[in-house]
Amino acid sequence: MGDGQSRTTSADALVIFGVTGDLARKMIFPALYAMAKRGVLKVPVVGVAAPKWSLAQLRKHAQDSIKQAGKVDDRAALEHLLSLLQYVGGDYSDPNTFKTLKQVLGNAQRPAHYLAIPPALFATVIQSLGAAGLADQGRVIVEKPFGRDLASAQELNRIALSVFPEDSIFRIDHYLGKEAIMNILYFRFANSFLEPIWNRNAVASVQITLSENFGVKNRGAYYESVGCLRDVIQNHLFQIVALLAMEPPAYMGFAAIHNEKAKVFQAMRPLQPEDVVRGQYVGYRNEQGVAKDSRVETFCALRLFIDSWRWEGVPWYLRSGKYLATTAAEVLVELKPPPQLLFDDSYPSDGHANYLRFRLSPNSAIALAARVKRAGKQFVGDQRELFLSDEQLGEEAPYERLLTDAMAGDGTLFTREDAVEAAWLAVDPVLGAPDKVYRYKPGSWGPKQADALIAADGSWHNPMPEKVGKC
Ligand code: BG6
Repeated sequence: MGDGQSRTTSADALVIFGVTGDLARKMIFPALYAMAKRGVLKVPVVGVAAPKWSLAQLRKHAQDSIKQAGKVDDRAALEHLLSLLQYVGGDYSDPNTFKTLKQVLGNAQRPAHYLAIPPALFATVIQSLGAAGLADQGRVIVEKPFGRDLASAQELNRIALSVFPEDSIFRIDHYLGKEAIMNILYFRFANSFLEPIWNRNAVASVQITLSENFGVKNRGAYYESVGCLRDVIQNHLFQIVALLAMEPPAYMGFAAIHNEKAKVFQAMRPLQPEDVVRGQYVGYRNEQGVAKDSRVETFCALRLFIDSWRWEGVPWYLRSGKYLATTAAEVLVELKPPPQLLFDDSYPSDGHANYLRFRLSPNSAIALAARVKRAGKQFVGDQRELFLSDEQLGEEAPYERLLTDAMAGDGTLFTREDAVEAAWLAVDPVLGAPDKVYRYKPGSWGPKQADALIAADGSWHNPMPEKVGKC
C-alpha cells in the first residue's frame, strides 16, 4: 500500500523503552512471539528500562509474559525470540543510558525505537535519541495518547519532527490494527450499494459505544492523568468516526487515506460543554493511585457534529466507560424511517429504525437490520438482522500487525501529525471545562444524564454481551 509516503526499508533492530512495564508484558512480548512464529522477527530486540536487570531476568520476564497471554505452542519460536533479546538498564534522563544503547546496537543502522513509556517521558527520550545519533536513519513508534491537549500535541510533534522526519514517526492507535476496524474501510469502499445512503439524506444518527465491564485495574495513576475522553475517545473512537465519515480516497495509498481522514477531523465541530456528559463509577476513588477527591471521568458520552457536505446535521453519539454492563465495542448507523408511515410499526417507538451495525469487539460482525412482515392478516412485522460478516478465523492481533508494519516502514495504519492535532482541536474546548462528574453504579450503563444527551434522537443502543449479539 506504500506510495512513497512511508519508509519502505525495514528496521534492522527493535528497541523497546519501558520493556519492564505493563504494555510490554501484556501486548508487546505476545506480539513479538507471534511475529517469531510467523518467521518475520529476525532483528535484535533491545529492551531499555530503569531497573538494573540482567539479561536472564529479561528473558524470564519475556517468557512469563508470553505464557500469561496464552499457550506456548511453538518452543522454537520462543527460543528464537529469547535469543534476540538484549537489555540496557538506566535512567532515561542520563545520556550514558543512550551511549550504552548505541554500543549494544552495534552495527544496526535503522533501529526502530518503541516508546512504551509514560507520555511525560516521550520528549526526553526522543531528544536523547537525537543527541546520541540514534535517530539518523531510525524511526520512532509512539504510544497514545499523543499529547494531552492541542498545545502539548503540537509541542510533542515539534520535538519529534526536530529529530525524526514525519514518515519515520509511527503514532500507534491499536484500534487501527483491529481487523473489524480495517473492515469498515473495506466495507465502505468495496460496495456501491452503500454510497447513495451514506450521508445526511438517509442516516439519522450514528452511535459508537466502547464499554468495559471492569475498572481501571492497576492503572489508577495513569488513568488519573488522562480520564476517559483522553484515554479512548479522542483517539480510538475518533479513528472509527474518521473511517465511517471519510470521503473515498483518490487511490488506495497512504497519503490519500490519511488526507481524507484528516479532513474529517478538521470538519469536526469543536465540542461544547453541553455536548458532553461525564461520569465516575462508585468505588473509583478507592482504586490504587487514585485521589480520594478525584474528579476524573471513567465514563464519557458526547454528541459530535461533522460540518461537511455529507454529514451536515447528522449527530454522532460517542460513549465509553469503565465498569459498565458489558465489554463490547459497537457502531450503530441508524437510518431514517420511511417518509410515509403506512404501517403502524413503520417507525418503531420501542427501538431503532433500520440500521447497520458494526460489531467491533469482542468478536467482529456486520449486520443490516430491516423490517419484515410477520405471517398473518395484519401488516405488522419485526426488525431482523442480516449478517454480512461474522467471526473470522486467523485474525492477527493489533499489536502484532502494527509492530510488523512499523518495522517494515508501512505507516498506513498509524496516525498523522495533522490528524492528531485536528482531533485535539475538536475536544480542546471541553478538556478543561469544570463539568459535573456524575457517579454511576458499577455494572450499569453509566449516569442517566447520558440518556438526556441522546433523547432528541432516541436512546442509546447497548451492545449485547454474547459473542454475536442481536438487538
Ligand atoms: C487502551 C486504553 O488504549 O484501550 C484502555 O488505555 C482500554 O483503557 C483499551 O481498556 C481498550 O482496548 P481494547 O483493544 O481492549 O478494546
